[in-house]
Amino acid sequence: MSTQFLRDTVYNERGKNMATAMVIGAQWGDEGKGKIVDYLAAKADVVVRSQGGNNAGHTVVTGGKVYPLRLMPSGIMYENTICVVGTGVVIDPKSLIEEMRSLEEKGVKTHHLQISTRAQVVFPYHIRQDEAEEAMKGSRKIGTTKNGIGPCYADKINRIGIRICDLMDKEVFAEKLKYNLEYKNRVLEKLYGVEGFDYEKMLKDYLEYAEILRPFVKDTNYNVDKFIKEGKNVLFEGAQASMLDCDNGTYPYVTSSHPTAGGACIGAGIGPHNMKNIFGVVKAYSTRVGEGPFPTELHDETGDYIRNLAHEFGTVTGRPRRVGWLDARAVRYAAQLNTFDYLAITRLDILDQMDEIKICVGYEYEGKEIKEYPADLNFLSKLKPIYKTFEGWKEKISDIREYDKLPQKAKEYVEAIAEITGVKIGIVSVGPTREETIVVKDVFKK
Ligand code: GDP
Ligand code: IMO
Ligand code: MG
Repeated sequence: MSTQFLRDTVYNERGKNMATAMVIGAQWGDEGKGKIVDYLAAKADVVVRSQGGNNAGHTVVTGGKVYPLRLMPSGIMYENTICVVGTGVVIDPKSLIEEMRSLEEKGVKTHHLQISTRAQVVFPYHIRQDEAEEAMKGSRKIGTTKNGIGPCYADKINRIGIRICDLMDKEVFAEKLKYNLEYKNRVLEKLYGVEGFDYEKMLKDYLEYAEILRPFVKDTNYNVDKFIKEGKNVLFEGAQASMLDCDNGTYPYVTSSHPTAGGACIGAGIGPHNMKNIFGVVKAYSTRVGEGPFPTELHDETGDYIRNLAHEFGTVTGRPRRVGWLDARAVRYAAQLNTFDYLAITRLDILDQMDEIKICVGYEYEGKEIKEYPADLNFLSKLKPIYKTFEGWKEKISDIREYDKLPQKAKEYVEAIAEITGVKIGIVSVGPTREETIVVKDVFKK
């Protein structure tokens, strides 16, 4: 039997049983990934976060309550669904423990959580470094969430990160923290001119966190692969979004992880043959928090109208989100990066009362359409969005549950997004709750 034959057999066998899906942000974040994950998780056995940290703010609205989630996968509301915080996530233990407690106070159980032994740990020195770095950059600042995400990922790449498995071993942890803190205190005090931290206090705090988290710590790379082989319904939950991808987004105005389908393989510790049913979540208009290019940004009363109506203020930092027309050109780029199978269009109801709505279908420079999404931000800033205008449907749609019952003009708008991006519609969301969802493609059987 040749090796080639063996490999084909393994994947064919796995392919037959495999039931996976993925939810990825197709814009600059806050598309409504939490809502879509919560909806799909009703039929999922496992939900996996694979990157980002508590910079994410995912909102789940159900049973008359609002659950703002940061590190917790958005399947946590379902007691029998295993929720994995995977290898590629950066975990601030204090923040995770606070989140667990606040969920438990609201009656949500968290015993079904699993935390990767390989995930990186965020420390207060990362947060201080994030703040100091932003202050030092002045007008060149990124507008980060100041949760220490960038510095923690930088330490990982620099191979001085401390992982959850280190935190679980008192001696290893004490030694690694001592080394890192001496180094970090020098950087904080000498380079940034800010105060450092006390070793004994940090050691004590983190050893306490370690004991709270210990029961949840697992080899999730092994487990996720096993769940998939067993034919369980496994859902991957992206945080942040494609245009914030560190390699492929609007660098340097990005986050420090890979919020793409490829990134999910690395961050969950499994191979690309495992990924099916990749949903790109697209808000019916665009928003962005923090600095960086935003070709379709609205600086007028239409932008203010959408921001106020949709309450577009950051869940993590409370900052007003920048608002603009849907940039379907950027979504087409996200489709190229992620190989989306379906789009999940969210917040369509927000546009109910608009007279007219615009979609950016491409960018032009000196009269010519640009085919590639530009890497050079200076060039990107010179491009002119090409808009297509749609008439509004002027009708409340949040009670509609079947695609065919949507107003014709709303369907035209949604179908134009599919056409421009080359991706089929899988879900249309018409309100924040689980129920306010129109499903075109049901991916999990149960
Ligand atoms: P995420 O970070 O992608 O999970 O998105 P956020 O939770 O940060 O922001 C999305 C916001 O839109 C949240 O307040 C959701 O409750 C809300 N939302 C999600 N889908 C819909 C929808 O279809 N209609 C309306 N009106 N709100 C929605
Ligand atoms: P969810 O998962 C929107 C943005 C920040 C900043 C840049 C870098 O809720 O969609 P960071 O703290 O990650 O170093 O900040 O990325 N950003 C987000 N914007 N939604 C998010 O997450 C974001 N997470 C980070 O505003 O511009
Ligand atoms: Mg968010």
